[in-house]
Amino acid sequence: MQTRKATAVSCSNIAFIKYWGNYDARLRLPLNDSISMNLDALRTETTVEFDDALENDEIVIGEQSADERTERRVVEQLNRIRAEAKIDTKARVHSRNNFPSAVGLASSASAFAALTLAGTRAAGLELGERALSILARQGSGSAARSIPAGFVEWLAATNVTSISSQSYAHQVMPPDAWDLCDVIAIVSSEAKKVGSNEGHSIAHTSPFFGERLSRLPNRYHRVRRELLAKNLKGMGPDVETEAIELHAIAMTSRPPIFYWLPGTIRVMDAVRQWRGAGLSAYYTLDAGPNVHILVEGKDSAEVAKRVRELADVQDVIISGPGEGARLSEEHLF
Ligand code: PMV
Repeated sequence: MQTRKATAVSCSNIAFIKYWGNYDARLRLPLNDSISMNLDALRTETTVEFDDALENDEIVIGEQSADERTERRVVEQLNRIRAEAKIDTKARVHSRNNFPSAVGLASSASAFAALTLAGTRAAGLELGERALSILARQGSGSAARSIPAGFVEWLAATNVTSISSQSYAHQVMPPDAWDLCDVIAIVSSEAKKVGSNEGHSIAHTSPFFGERLSRLPNRYHRVRRELLAKNLKGMGPDVETEAIELHAIAMTSRPPIFYWLPGTIRVMDAVRQWRGAGLSAYYTLDAGPNVHILVEGKDSAEVAKRVRELADVQDVIISGPGEGARLSEEHLF
């Protein structure tokens, strides 16, 4: 095989209905459908080059070699790409985020979406959106949702027989359909101690997990309906309940996982107070302590200003809806 190089850019995403718990951990098949918005302000750029001269894969994240755990996950994804392309050439991978890497937002969604698009192209494959989403999903579940643009849903497809080929993400609404903003309040920039992989694997040990799964379909359909109606007041209460519930499952799993910090609760309280005074703002959280505040674009500057004034907040990032994964001509090396 000749040396081939490709670069891709991909956005991270914030889920309104979250993926938490696998039906099949190896294939990263989720137990429930999820729905999210790509985040234009949080992007990963990745260049992949397959080179016959290499004896091992070389992985650089930011300016440094990847740590052992990240390296293993990236090599596993390269192996999936090599299997698909029927090659065994090793690759050089350089990846960087456009957002500060030390703010606790290191996102596997944008990273694995960009790696999958760049890697498959560099390996000579031209996969469509659906096949890319299926492949990205196996690197990191939420990466499946960073392949299509804008507002996206990822179907669990637990009711069909050939599940892996049916569990992929597709667009619900393009990014320019709704000027929804995510104002992210950074209350801690430490890397999280417990990764989402572990959270997924012990979710079923929470005595409340079955209850969550039984309530999700109705919540999902309400959120999807209000999203399509571009009605933040309509979807906001369910989005908040969903975030609290995911964390309640994490906190009641064995062993329990606590992602919240005092600052997390204080920002959530402030949002509730602002809402009481007439501002339309609703919070959600990933598997971490930072608070994502959803507001209409017209309110984003005011909310960011108020968030910056809160004592616990170290940094604020404002993001609108983002594009899907795309190729770029600007290689990182
Ligand atoms: O893709 P993972 O394995 O990092 O899991 C993502 C989990 C959440 O961010 C908490 C929820 C979601 O759907 O994005």
